[in-house]
Amino acid sequence: MKVLLTGATSGIGQEVARILRERGDELWVVVRDASRADPRDHAIVADLAEPLSLTVADLPEEIDAVVHSAGTITLGAIADSAQEDWESQFRINLLAPAMLTRIALPALRRAQGTVVFVNSGAGLRVSAGWSAYAASKHGLRALADGLREEEKSLRVTSIFPGRTATPMQESVHAQEGSAYDAERWIRPETVARKVVEIIDLPNDALIPEVVIRPR
Ligand SMILES: NC(=O)c1ccc[n+]([C@@H]2O[C@H](COP(=O)([O-])OP(=O)(O)OC[C@H]3O[C@@H](n4cnc5c(N)ncnc54)[C@H](OP(=O)(O)O)[C@@H]3O)[C@@H](O)[C@H]2O)c1
Repeated sequence: MKVLLTGATSGIGQEVARILRERGDELWVVVRDASRADPRDHAIVADLAEPLSLTVADLPEEIDAVVHSAGTITLGAIADSAQEDWESQFRINLLAPAMLTRIALPALRRAQGTVVFVNSGAGLRVSAGWSAYAASKHGLRALADGLREEEKSLRVTSIFPGRTATPMQESVHAQEGSAYDAERWIRPETVARKVVEIIDLPNDALIPEVVIRPR
């Protein structure tokens, strides 16, 4: 299987990459620092906070799956929020997945592939202090829903994890001013296994949405 993946250097995306790599899949990873890419993967260097200069020529002829896992979060009340925080979250969490999907579409169509957007519980509901991140993730759900309507040959899934024990969750705790205990949250491997299951689903069916929460 040929898989294009963002966020493969950390957390959920890193676990997805590990599982796929171990079973012999071919990975194209979009990373902002080439030295962080696993040498077994094809590295595509791009900072997702910037306009994407990638073209179809950078990608394989056929792509069986795209997993959008890169993301960023800056908490803060609307009253105190800076424009640059809104912009970076919109760029990395929403605009980059949209543009990367667009570039990958010809290759995805050839393979009748699957696109998985790693969304968030914040893509379904909003808490105080989470507006900018939640707005980017609500937008990401709209992107997935629109893509599913427009590209009938593809399978498009949004997965909505609750708090997952990754560096991002550690940062969320620091921003909230609370103590971090990784044991309380979903293991990134658990979310990753679900993502792989979505990709591997027999081709007579698709899973539009999956909600996964800590017990
Ligand atoms: N952890 C949670 O509790 C949780 C819950 C729900 C949803 N999510 C979502 O799950 C996804 C994965 O999150 P995670 O927890 O695994 O986060 P993470 O451990 O912080 O990993 C984030 C990944 O995104 C990449 N990334 C960030 N900014 C980038 C940029 N400008 N250009 C290229 N790559 C960039 C990072 O690359 P570097 O290694 O170069 O920094 C890293 O690989 C995100 O979309 C997040 O919103 C997470």
